[in-house]
Amino acid sequence: MCGIVGYIGTQQACPILIEGLKKLEYRGYDSAGVALLNGGYIDIIKTVGRLYDLEQKLDGVSPEGSMGIGHTRWATHGRPSDVNSHPHKACDSDFVVVHNGIVENYLELKGWLTARGHVFCSETDTEVLAHLVENYYQGDLLEAVRKAVSKVEGSYAMAVMSDREKDKIVCVRKESPLVIGLGNGEQFIASDIPAILNHTRETYIMDDGEIAVVQIDDVSIYNGSGSKVNKQVFKVNWDQQAAEKGGFEHFMLKEIYEQPPAIKDTLKDRLNVLDYKVELKELSLENQYLKNLNKIFIVACGTAYHAGLIGKHVIEKMTRIPVEVELASEYRYRDPIIDPEKNLVMVISQSGETADTLAAMKLSKGMGAKVLAVTNVVGSSVSREADSVIYTWAGPEIAVASTKAYITQLVAMYLWGLHIAQLKETLSRDQVTKIIDGLRRIPSQVQAILEQAPKVENIAETVHQKEDLFFIGRGLDYAVAQEGSLKLKEISYIHAEAYAAGELKHGTLALVTEDTPVMAVITQKDIYEKTLSNIKEVKARDAYVIAVTVKSNQSIESEVDEVFYVPENENILMPLLTVVPLQLLAYYAALMRGCDVDKPRNLAKSVTVE
Ligand code: G6P
Repeated sequence: MCGIVGYIGTQQACPILIEGLKKLEYRGYDSAGVALLNGGYIDIIKTVGRLYDLEQKLDGVSPEGSMGIGHTRWATHGRPSDVNSHPHKACDSDFVVVHNGIVENYLELKGWLTARGHVFCSETDTEVLAHLVENYYQGDLLEAVRKAVSKVEGSYAMAVMSDREKDKIVCVRKESPLVIGLGNGEQFIASDIPAILNHTRETYIMDDGEIAVVQIDDVSIYNGSGSKVNKQVFKVNWDQQAAEKGGFEHFMLKEIYEQPPAIKDTLKDRLNVLDYKVELKELSLENQYLKNLNKIFIVACGTAYHAGLIGKHVIEKMTRIPVEVELASEYRYRDPIIDPEKNLVMVISQSGETADTLAAMKLSKGMGAKVLAVTNVVGSSVSREADSVIYTWAGPEIAVASTKAYITQLVAMYLWGLHIAQLKETLSRDQVTKIIDGLRRIPSQVQAILEQAPKVENIAETVHQKEDLFFIGRGLDYAVAQEGSLKLKEISYIHAEAYAAGELKHGTLALVTEDTPVMAVITQKDIYEKTLSNIKEVKARDAYVIAVTVKSNQSIESEVDEVFYVPENENILMPLLTVVPLQLLAYYAALMRGCDVDKPRNLAKSVTVE
């Protein structure tokens, strides 16, 4: 994990690097640093802490130079410290690297290099890369980097500079993202597009195994076997403003409020309301194959996994195809049983770069399975490696806690379920019509919930000082409860657990007291009474209960302490509504507890390491 940037041109590089790193802080933010070619030698300034701390350190030093590389870190090997921060250098500062990824065989390489006289000063895996390049350098930086990475097992997006070759930065990628921004007499390097968007929209998106020599007026890219690649320019058509806060105090709140347009955009051109059909024009999987499916695996991490849990209910209900939902980190190592003819693997990933999800995808493809990706980032690794893609059109999501990406992932699950149901004719025309009409109402209904935000703020006022909180629900409500619980714990650090309401009595009920508020999501009509009984069980243990339900269940008011009403819609679509107050609750509780909402401790937006 981490973000890397680079610049070569005629301007002062330092401010450009810092500006780029600010856009990449979502990838990690426990330390940061820059290296600049200042005349004949390379200056490295780095520090533990946030970018702000680096800026403080740079203040008054103002390192000069029109070529440089920079890094924002999320520690994997070696705790966050000044010395473990990137950039890292070889023995005598001649070779400097920034790296995102993990060198899995670094101990072995470190031993080998040490025996050859190299002296290490950090605890990181990255430092071996600088020493390896130094070791192999014989007057050609490109060649040295090529040889160095050939010894590396693991993942990397890496940029290397050297004062022996002052006219270039060499960068290379394997399993970690890397883009090159093409300017006029200047070039930019970054882990992600927002970091370069203020300067250029023309980019090369590097592929695995590619290595690039980036010079002021030329970018040459070579593939793994050394041949020059004729790379297509990828033109970015979304703007920087879309990735800025736009007047909100935090990205998370802005992104919560962007949900109505994000849902609309994800539905756009996919609902044919004349024929009441779903049209996924971008889908390239054959109908016959889809009709024959007898199992779907959904594989994802974090919030995307929670979207998969909803997907399971939705797809199974709509299509009667069994769905298994798996954490990518588990799936990739458990030797899954896949029938390539009759199974489909779906991966869900906002960033399209999550290491475990990518590995799960590669494993599935290696077993001959077709992979359908649901992702938010065009050009991401997941989108490029999948057999087919359904894009969520949430726009750039910056806050670590995912909100608008999650809700659009749910929309993708409904669209996908409907698509297969149409093919297999497992839903009646009337059912399809109702769901499509229901989906069209969702954006305005989410808007109506957002207008009730002060009510959620009051609930947060009641619960934010508690140290434990339970979320309960059944079926789809339980899947939403799991996402609500994750949101709360990741940004407010309140210990939260989600339980299937019927399971409480098998253990968790022992933990329920007057100090453990319970958020009960209770919308599913067929199991309403069942969940209500579970609410009564926790009430009987003095829990403060807040119900999230619909107005037709108004009688619940006499059973609980507070009720938050969401608008009515089709049973199956309710998660699109009930998740919104839970997102707001997490936001306000975190705010009231003085937490860094957009950058929770120990977490990062894009987890590109295992
Ligand atoms: C990280 C983020 C989560 C996200 C998860 C999966 O943990 O903090 O918000 O849900 O990665 O990310 P992906 O980009 O694959 O959806």
